[in-house]
Amino acid sequence: MHKNIKKIQKFEQRPFIIKNFINQRDIEIFQKLYDELPVEINNTRQQIKKKKWTVNYYPEFQKKYHEDLKKIIGDFWMDNPKSKENLESLGLFQESLKPVSLHVDTGFDYKNILYKQTLLALSEGSETIIFKNRFYGCSTTFSIDPAELSATGYNKRSSEHLALYGEKNFDKNFHKKYLSHENIDNLRGLEVDLVFEWKIGDLLVFDRTALHCSSKNIIEKKLGFTTSTVKI
Ligand SMILES: [Fe+2]
Repeated sequence: MHKNIKKIQKFEQRPFIIKNFINQRDIEIFQKLYDELPVEINNTRQQIKKKKWTVNYYPEFQKKYHEDLKKIIGDFWMDNPKSKENLESLGLFQESLKPVSLHVDTGFDYKNILYKQTLLALSEGSETIIFKNRFYGCSTTFSIDPAELSATGYNKRSSEHLALYGEKNFDKNFHKKYLSHENIDNLRGLEVDLVFEWKIGDLLVFDRTALHCSSKNIIEKKLGFTTSTVKI
């Protein structure tokens, strides 16, 4: 469990979207950068490829992205896992063919004052669903599927969320429209805060403690760039 919950909560707010966070020229740089970066993780089970934007790629553009983020969320420190070569990274590109299931990206350092997570859309036709529900344990994928619970990966696997948010059944229509890849019983007690509709160049900003997942909708493949931050 995170140690600074009071401080973390002080910075919590509702998720929001910045339309056209990057312009057309920068979108092209991002696409070029993505092509040039080496693959860090290729998970065939989850059908997801990850690349880290390490410090040695486009350093000037990296500085600009950092400054642009600062204008939106104020002072922060990056909190992204280092690359295999132990290099600092500004964030993670995720290319997926399959929706990412319910989880939280709270990290594993309980001393951190968790702050914002940002997600830059680099493809269209998908959604990300942010829930009002919060979690103060480590990075966890929430599931009631025995196969998922026994899988190993970066995140812890758990169904402890079901004991936290009450018994209320999840909205059937919303489930059908966006989340039919999730077992509706795995969503019990959850309340939707925001649906982020992916438009290239738009940025979603949300708290690290907020539960979230992809919608079921993916046209061909989904590409996003995500950055995690902490406060000092
Ligand atoms: Fe996430």
